[in-house]
Amino acid sequence: MAQIKQALVPDIGDYHDVPVIELLVQVGDRVSKDQGLATLESDKATMEVPAPFAGTVRELKVKLGDAVSEGSVVALIEADGDAQAAAAEPAAAKAEPPPKSDAPAKTEPVAAKAEPAAAQPTARETHTPPVAFSADTVLPASVPYASPSVRVFARELGVDLAQVKGGERGGRIAKADVQAFVKAALAGAAGGSATGGGLNLIAWPKVDFAKFGEIERRPLSRINKLSGANLARNWAMIPHVTQFDEADITEMETFRKRLGEEQKEVKVTPLVFLIKAVVAALQQYPAFNASLDGDELVLKKYFHIGIAVDTPDGLVVPVIRNADQKGLLALSKELAEISVKAREKKLGPADMSGGCFSISSLGGIGGTAFTPIINAPEVAILGVSKAQTKPLWNGTEFIPRLLLPLSLSYDHRVIDGAAAARFTAFLARALTDLRRLLL
Ligand code: COA
Repeated sequence: MAQIKQALVPDIGDYHDVPVIELLVQVGDRVSKDQGLATLESDKATMEVPAPFAGTVRELKVKLGDAVSEGSVVALIEADGDAQAAAAEPAAAKAEPPPKSDAPAKTEPVAAKAEPAAAQPTARETHTPPVAFSADTVLPASVPYASPSVRVFARELGVDLAQVKGGERGGRIAKADVQAFVKAALAGAAGGSATGGGLNLIAWPKVDFAKFGEIERRPLSRINKLSGANLARNWAMIPHVTQFDEADITEMETFRKRLGEEQKEVKVTPLVFLIKAVVAALQQYPAFNASLDGDELVLKKYFHIGIAVDTPDGLVVPVIRNADQKGLLALSKELAEISVKAREKKLGPADMSGGCFSISSLGGIGGTAFTPIINAPEVAILGVSKAQTKPLWNGTEFIPRLLLPLSLSYDHRVIDGAAAARFTAFLARALTDLRRLLL
């Protein structure tokens, strides 16, 4: 009779609290013995948690970003009748009926041996997994079936296994399938030069820097590698245009300072006013609160705002959910919390997913303008630089006003220049006269 048992993280050496970077199965999937259930990635190695026996996945006990150690439960698997003996666990002999769906399953732990994806690669040898800057695209709809060594091979070549057709029994992807995929892709790129399609880039320059003077090599952080891959894709694939404007925030600053004096509980920075103004602009111009999906534009009715946060390890973009339903003080509190969480490396994929529009504020640092890169699949991002007091002509004389530089990058496939100019002008008006946020 079928029995539900736990699949545990096996002995993974000295590693503890290793993040789950990939779920390789879904509830209901049939798995064979030793098939990967989840991929873990530490700073130094990538490893798969294999199924300790064949069966059907009944429940996943981990999600992307969870930190696991030896003995953590990864999944509950209903063992195949004939696989119970093969599980070589004395407990497996005690067959139990499958639990009812609403009752917690009585389970027994079974751990297989972890298969390291590569022979303990060093940080420099570990290759960037093709996962996303925005956690939205991390979540796979269906997971390709391949051994850890094939996964590492694919990663080394930058191949997304989801696009590779497996030639082995049961659709399993072999090394040869990955090689064939790369050959076909190269042939396609070569064809692109004749037809004008494809990027057809020349190779990255290879330079022996040490020949010219003393150097030091430093491995990129995991965040640098992930965000770098996403920024490069977004920059190459999205036709960006940046619209610049300035908002007169003289009155807003007076009000912000008063808020700071009235309460000492939270620090209120210009950023929370920007979040409120952006939400109002998204409500006014829904095409900015959208994503491209094939030939369709997905218009979102919710307002989740991503905030670029600078951390010692690189850039991350946590998301403030339902910003339309929060006031300035609540937003300030949440902003402080996510900034701390980001800098302490405690953000999980859920904290960084579901964003509609991002804001990148360099106002606390300096600069007059910049061209932010859109955080796909969003269609626009607002860059904010340092406010400065400048003379403004009021029709009769120059008066000193505090002006905030705004830089809106937008996806020109979705938004045209006139709409972007209107959106930015709307933002500037709302920040100049906050009463407009009530309209
Ligand atoms: N103009 C002038 N001053 C500004 C300002 C602006 N646009 N924005 C913020 N400031 C001031 C704040 O009021 C604060 O001043 P105070 O200490 O005298 O009160 C100071 O600058 C520091 O603000 P900061 O701590 O940066 O808070 P914030 O709410 O503006 O920003 C983060 C919070 C998390 C976004 C910010 O710390 C951060 O990480 N920014 C970098 C984002 C990034 O790297 N983007 C690049 C992506 S390409």
